[in-house]
Parts: sequence; C-alpha cells; structure tokens
Amino acid sequence: MKKLCLDRNQVFSGELILVNKDNPIREIIPYENICQIDKDSKVYLNKNVDYILKELLFEIGSTDEIAYVSGYRTLEEQIEIYNNSLNENGEDFTNKYVALPGHSEHQTGFAIDLAKNNGDIDFIRPDFPNEGIYKEFREKAPAFGFIERYIKEKERVTGISAEPWHFRYVGFPHSKIITDKNMVLEEYIEFIKDFKYGKKSLIVKDKNLNIEISYICFESEKNLISIPDNSPYVISGNNVDGYILTLWRS
Ligand code: DAL
Ligand code: ZN
Repeated sequence: MKKLCLDRNQVFSGELILVNKDNPIREIIPYENICQIDKDSKVYLNKNVDYILKELLFEIGSTDEIAYVSGYRTLEEQIEIYNNSLNENGEDFTNKYVALPGHSEHQTGFAIDLAKNNGDIDFIRPDFPNEGIYKEFREKAPAFGFIERYIKEKERVTGISAEPWHFRYVGFPHSKIITDKNMVLEEYIEFIKDFKYGKKSLIVKDKNLNIEISYICFESEKNLISIPDNSPYVISGNNVDGYILTLWRS
C-alpha cells in the first residue's frame, strides 16, 4: 500500500469541486493550467478539459457548427458580466443566469458555454438546441467526462435556471453516473458521502476494469490514507468537506 497525505487545500481543488451559491471557489487557479481554446479566440479553458472537449468534438465530427462562447473567467470578468447583466437585464434575470462573482464554475476553468454557430450568439443565454449535432454532443458528453450542469427539474437544487448550453467537466465515470441517475452535482456530492473510503465504495465496471469511487472526510490538516500500489487513481476535493477518490483496478 502507498500512503498519501491530503491537506486542507486539496479539499478546494480538483475536477469534482462543487461551486455554487453556498460554496465559493477558494483556490487560486494556476495560470499554467489554463489555455486559449483556439488561437484568435478569447475563450480560455483548463488545459486538460480543452483537450478532452476537442476529442469529443472530433468524435461527433463537429467542424464549425459549435461555437465556444465562454470558458474560464477571472473574478474580475465574472464581476463585469454580473454588473453588466444587472444593468441590462435586472436583478431577477441576473440571479437566474449569472452566478455571483466568486461563485461561478467558470472561474474553475472546468465549465464551457457552447452555442449553435449561427452568427448571432447571445452571450448569457446562447442557443444550444436539442437536435442534430448539438443533441449528439449532449448525448456523448458523459462518456467524455462532461455533464449538462443546470437542468430544469433541478433549478431549486442548483439555484440556477436551466442552461442547456453550459457543460461542466467532472471526469469519467462521475459524469456518466450523474447523468444516468438524473442528478446534479449538488446531489452527487451528497450521494458519494455514503461511500466512505475503507468501508464501502461505489463500483462501476468499465471494460475490464473496476472503478471504485469513495469519499474521504476532511479530518485534520494532514489526513493520511493508504491506497493500493499500482492502481491508477485521481483525488479531487469536493469544495465542501472532503475528497473523492477514484481508483481503477484491473
Ligand atoms: N451562468 C453560470 C451560472 C455562471 O455565471 O457561472
Ligand atoms: Zn456557463
């Protein structure tokens, strides 16, 4: 077994962090993790997410049907978007569609707004229809680690109105479980807490691998855990109170 030491900062970083009205983004995103999505583009994204998004677009054969509208935003950009929307659209609309500065997933680099590339794109509410290549994108997204983050039936849970254009990278197989169970990230973060590492794990079969998912509660500044040697793993904070461990076993 290999020993890992998890510190407090790791609660606030990783692909599964929950960022919403109750959970602000707390980590400072390293500049080197972010890239320009296309040369000539003003849209930026986490480098790894950018790579996987392009694989997904390649898989569905998208050339220029899908436009990038908004990806990574700095706090200053979120403040500007929020204030402009308040002035132009009023408080009610803004609170439905624009997260409070400091509470936007766009500040993580893991979220991307996409649009049908028809030349006339609304920045706050772009059109991303549920037909053709857009539907195909939506259907294949979970296999690539993305979820449609704000859905109509869960507006009360997320605090944000339905946004069929906003996709969030959470990593596979979390994306597939969330989508299959018709959950939102808020619900998934709670659901995973039942699978306490060392006691119980959520097991997902993928090809000839078992993927084991479990939760580790933050207990002290130096949380020591043991994980099996030679098993690939990812640890992400949940941005609330602990970590989610994903282990691949053959
Ligand atoms: N439109 C989403 C909620 C944001 O501003 O982060
Ligand atoms: Zn968005």
